[in-house]
Amino acid sequence: MIGFFDSGFGGLTILKEVEKALPNYSYIYLGDNARTPYGNLSQEKIYQYTCQGVEELFRRGANLIILACNTSSTMALRRLQQEYLPDKHPGKKVLGIIIPTAEEMIGTRNVGIFATEATVSSCAYLAEISKFNPQAKVFQQACPLLVPIIEAGNFEQLDSVVQEYAQELFEKSISMDAIILGCTHYAIVEKTFRKYLPDGIKIFSQGEIVAKKLKEYLDRHPEFKDKLKEGGKKIFLTTENSPHVQALAELFYGEKIDLFVISLS
Ligand code: DGL
Repeated sequence: MIGFFDSGFGGLTILKEVEKALPNYSYIYLGDNARTPYGNLSQEKIYQYTCQGVEELFRRGANLIILACNTSSTMALRRLQQEYLPDKHPGKKVLGIIIPTAEEMIGTRNVGIFATEATVSSCAYLAEISKFNPQAKVFQQACPLLVPIIEAGNFEQLDSVVQEYAQELFEKSISMDAIILGCTHYAIVEKTFRKYLPDGIKIFSQGEIVAKKLKEYLDRHPEFKDKLKEGGKKIFLTTENSPHVQALAELFYGEKIDLFVISLS
């Protein structure tokens, strides 16, 4: 199975696109809704929570896991790959979503990024984009209120908050030709971002990018393909036991789902 981990609902936007591109695989999704948002936590906490999520997904049969969360990809991926995997799960993989997204910035000039506080302060996007496009200028905007709004389904606050963040980003530069929604939750409200961004600006949300890159990765690593198929299953897990989470998961995913509640430690 291919596993997806996020602090909450955001990774569903990645899973949705991956399924379209790779319909014959089996998927297991885990959202740590009970402990979201991760974006304001310390690096150590984000690592600890991500590691627990990854361990749980491996235990339930995942062989390859996508950290469908920019914050976990920024704060936990390298340590998972260097310290945890070789010792605990040699032969299994955990992949992130920052580098695949940065790679798509070849050919852009001025890039604006909306992301969580943790992702912005890590400067991971600046570092990775400069490898693929050293000429690109990158402007970042942290959006700390957005994940809590989306997780709570408080949509009445959404427009004014997105408008404010868009304004703050464009005060840093007006000449942006590309925008990255660098938090998977933000793809859920992409339409709202579009309302407050200049017409015609290219918005990169990560679902399609990750789907394309994962397909290429599996073509280069055929040894994984058979292990990951196992009969087209889909399993959805959350750490929060509430009807509200069930309803929002279905709304954001766009389909009825059986959501199982688990605990992580
Ligand atoms: N979806 C996560 C991301 O891509 C949100 C992080 C959070 O919980 O703050 O960064």
